[in-house]
Amino acid sequence: MSKHIDQRPLDTEPDFNRFIDAALSRRRFLQGTGAASAVAFFAANPVAKAVADTMSQSELLGFEAIPTSTTDTVNVPSGYKADVLVSWGDPLFANAPAFSQQNGADAQALQFGDNNDGMTFFPLASDRALLAVNNEYINDEYLFEHGGKNISADDARKSQAAHGVSLVELKKMDGRWHVNQEGRLNRRITAYTEMAMTGPAAGHSLLKTAADPSGKKILGTFNNCANGETPWGTYLTCEENFNGYFASAKNVTLGKTYQRYGISDSDWGYDWYKHDERFDVAKHPNEPHRFGWVVEIDPMDPNSTPKKRSALGRFKHENAALTVNDDGHVVVYMGDDERGEHLYKFVSEGKYDPSKGSANRDLLENGTLYVAKFTGSDDELNGQGEWLALTFGKNGLTPENGFPDEASVLIFAREAATQVGATTMDRPEWVAVHADKKHVFCTLTNNKYRGVKDNHPLNAANPRTENPYGHIIRWAPTQGDHTRDTFEWDIFVMAGHPEKQSGLMAGTDNINKDNMFNSPDGIGFDRAGRLWIQTDGNYSNEGDFAGMGNNQMLCADTQTGEIRRFLTGPTSCEITGLTFTPDSRTMFVGVQHPGAHFPAGGNAIPRSSVIMITKEDGGVIGS
Ligand code: FEO
Ligand code: CA
Ligand code: CA
Repeated sequence: MSKHIDQRPLDTEPDFNRFIDAALSRRRFLQGTGAASAVAFFAANPVAKAVADTMSQSELLGFEAIPTSTTDTVNVPSGYKADVLVSWGDPLFANAPAFSQQNGADAQALQFGDNNDGMTFFPLASDRALLAVNNEYINDEYLFEHGGKNISADDARKSQAAHGVSLVELKKMDGRWHVNQEGRLNRRITAYTEMAMTGPAAGHSLLKTAADPSGKKILGTFNNCANGETPWGTYLTCEENFNGYFASAKNVTLGKTYQRYGISDSDWGYDWYKHDERFDVAKHPNEPHRFGWVVEIDPMDPNSTPKKRSALGRFKHENAALTVNDDGHVVVYMGDDERGEHLYKFVSEGKYDPSKGSANRDLLENGTLYVAKFTGSDDELNGQGEWLALTFGKNGLTPENGFPDEASVLIFAREAATQVGATTMDRPEWVAVHADKKHVFCTLTNNKYRGVKDNHPLNAANPRTENPYGHIIRWAPTQGDHTRDTFEWDIFVMAGHPEKQSGLMAGTDNINKDNMFNSPDGIGFDRAGRLWIQTDGNYSNEGDFAGMGNNQMLCADTQTGEIRRFLTGPTSCEITGLTFTPDSRTMFVGVQHPGAHFPAGGNAIPRSSVIMITKEDGGVIGS
């Protein structure tokens, strides 16, 4: 299983050598686009144009960029094709009913979940694989024929069954992948699947409920946003907007530890609390503490109990970007997607040893959680950073400051981060570790409060007022060591609108009228080191976003800084989730919450879907 996770590229060794060279000359790398940008974004357009022209030399990007789109289709470059692999409601088992909007909870529990997001391809054989896919949330207006009015008990149960994770066996036939309903590993994990809490917070009084006096046995996972995978073959699913599921039948005012996570007596319209008492926060105030975690799943054992990893902290987790440090420590980078929240890093206590097999399986159970502090000069778009430990008894994380023990630091990680002086960020979404293992990237999707609200002051790493377009920050750990507490950073790209805006709002010099986008969100590297960038932004195609079209996926050469548009999504969707076959010849991409009639067309209701991209000549995607 570790084979496909190995960072070494399978197909483009020369490219990889090039990245090693780049890593050795870290200074040059970090000065690359960042330093050039700092100069160029204040310069006139002709300079940006000249830089853009030199960037079209990329050896890594072999496809022809596509224009924006406002159609209800998926578009890819010439020489590529995109097919639907699986959509919300497709049966995953031979005994599952076919998709119908009238399907109830029992049917949904046997079908692909809704709003697919992060995913990982686990190869089993040359013609067999398992795709683990997050199902983040539901849209009432499409999930139910009645559009979501008066949610019944069965409706609430269907909604819970449409959340979680779908483990889907794939079979290759006639040169392409298909869902295999006979697959032994097919599994649905939902909002009521039994899970175990592990690590320092397991069994803590803040996690005990009437139904679970042990504080270690939790039902379900939901709002599973993005993902990660481990070299020991497990899948990581990340709980994001868990606050939106808790409410109360009576008006209650909750204290600041709830407010910091957005938990109140009203939910986001799911209405689970009306039929499932544990979501009534007034009745079960500890239930919300049991969500907001990273969950580790063994996809190869359909009877395994998923494990919530408390050592990785409780916040609105986006993804979990795992790398094995040169000394064997496992390091996981994680964003907390909320305006003004933070960027985290976990370093395992134990070390990964490939020869130890399953003995590595609990490396995420214990370790140290850190949060990032960025420093730098205004307008330079680069600087230094520091990782601040969230360890009980250190950095003011003491009983006097409201942290009586290690568990409370992890359960209230956001407040601990504030206590130690972490930098407020513009909604940290996905993190991706470069194939060279020396550079790490994080999308900061946007933040309308930056420079507007008192607690969101401009800072060197988040330098743009209201940040409507978002940016991608990059850092290099000191001496390539991910366990060190210092790093250098720069901004790889600041998205913007060079035609309508000036200065910082125009974007960095690697943005031009042909590759404009806003709100970078999903990112990931392929084996050759191409950075794939997915957007979840304003698709109005008007005003400050005119000419950007529907949400899209782009591909970047992080050494030259060049970015090219590779895919455009259907109406109103977001593009999120990406994974590859080990030979990089099939790419899986998520279309989430399409809003018109994708993929069936006509008058069909829209269904979130996983798309499969191949090259007509069978080549490597992006080459
Ligand atoms: Fe689920 Fe922050 O996206
Ligand atoms: Ca996202
Ligand atoms: Ca987003």
